Amino acid sequence: MRAELFEKFHTRFGCPPEILSRAPGRIEFIGNHTDYNGGTVLGAAIDRSVWVALARRGDGRRRFASDGRDGDVTVSADRLEKLSGPPSWANYPLGVLAALPEFGLRAPAGFDYLAASDLPVGAGLSSSAAIELASALAFLAVTGQQPPRDTIVQIGRRAENDFVGVPCGILDQGVSGFGRKDHLVFIDCRGPRFKTVPLPPGAHFWIFNTHTRHALVDGLYAARHRECMAAAMAMGVEFLAEASPAALAAAAGRLSRLAGMRARHVIEEIARVGATVGAVRQGDLAAVGRLLTTSHRSSQTLFENSTPELDFLVDALVAAPNVHGARLTGGGFGGAVMALTSEIFGEAQACSVADAYLEKFGARPDRLHVQTGDGAELLRG
Ligand code: GLA
Repeated sequence: MRAELFEKFHTRFGCPPEILSRAPGRIEFIGNHTDYNGGTVLGAAIDRSVWVALARRGDGRRRFASDGRDGDVTVSADRLEKLSGPPSWANYPLGVLAALPEFGLRAPAGFDYLAASDLPVGAGLSSSAAIELASALAFLAVTGQQPPRDTIVQIGRRAENDFVGVPCGILDQGVSGFGRKDHLVFIDCRGPRFKTVPLPPGAHFWIFNTHTRHALVDGLYAARHRECMAAAMAMGVEFLAEASPAALAAAAGRLSRLAGMRARHVIEEIARVGATVGAVRQGDLAAVGRLLTTSHRSSQTLFENSTPELDFLVDALVAAPNVHGARLTGGGFGGAVMALTSEIFGEAQACSVADAYLEKFGARPDRLHVQTGDGAELLRG
């Protein structure tokens, strides 16, 4: 991709890029909607990425092009407004440019920018965090700035929260920034603090992308965010992560049925993250798999962010041989299911799960056998 991107940039803009950067997509391994509740979460960076190529120009114009998404766009350096329609993909790099000064960092003035990707968009693999981090690395490198990695991760999140307008937590950007091949990334979201946990050999990941997306997905995500904050307030804590299962039981009378369900999901899910770290360290993939599937059941029944399509895939996968466990990955309300499998699970088995899905829903989910990969990096500059 590196040589290809270099060439494409040259063809598009008539000069070579000064900077090349890359940031990976991520799997949410376990810890569903725990991040913005101050909890813990485990993710993995994958071997699919967004690449950015960049070169400065002297006239103060910022030209954004993408080889996958529609809508090239040119804006002047003194205009930072949210775009709509086909060029709205450029809101991710624009959001990064808007965030830089808030961290005491300089944004480059004029430049030519090209993004390329082998990461499917809308599959719950966080292509948005990947483009934010690859953009941040490129903008920082071209201006000769080297803030700590935590800051780069926070810049990505700020772009998403304040410019794009999604109240996400730190999971996606944290994993894209701190990912490491053959490792999971553990995030304690209150710090936030990041560390990596080695994966036992023989852990394989399959992603089944349903290409379904609830029409109101952004609104539903924001609604869950609000419900969790209201439940925390009713329990007298700032974040649900501060409440124990015992505190939840004691607060039962003060919470609506719905608030109780949301709170229980988050509090128990945080406990599952801890148990998963223990099982991963012991190399017990069967136990890890059971925790993953239990997490899905909790999303399905308590957090209510699953869909019939995702449930069908999880049911089909956990009934299949060589699958340790399966769950929805990411925000939910459509998107993708992740399965943790042994190495024996292969294309033929994945195909028969996809066939069963096709029979029921009339469309075939994409199957992706992904490997873990390294976090965001500068490739040239
Ligand atoms: C999306 C958000 C993350 C996280 C997950 C749910 O991926 O971007 O911050 O909240 O949903 O766990």
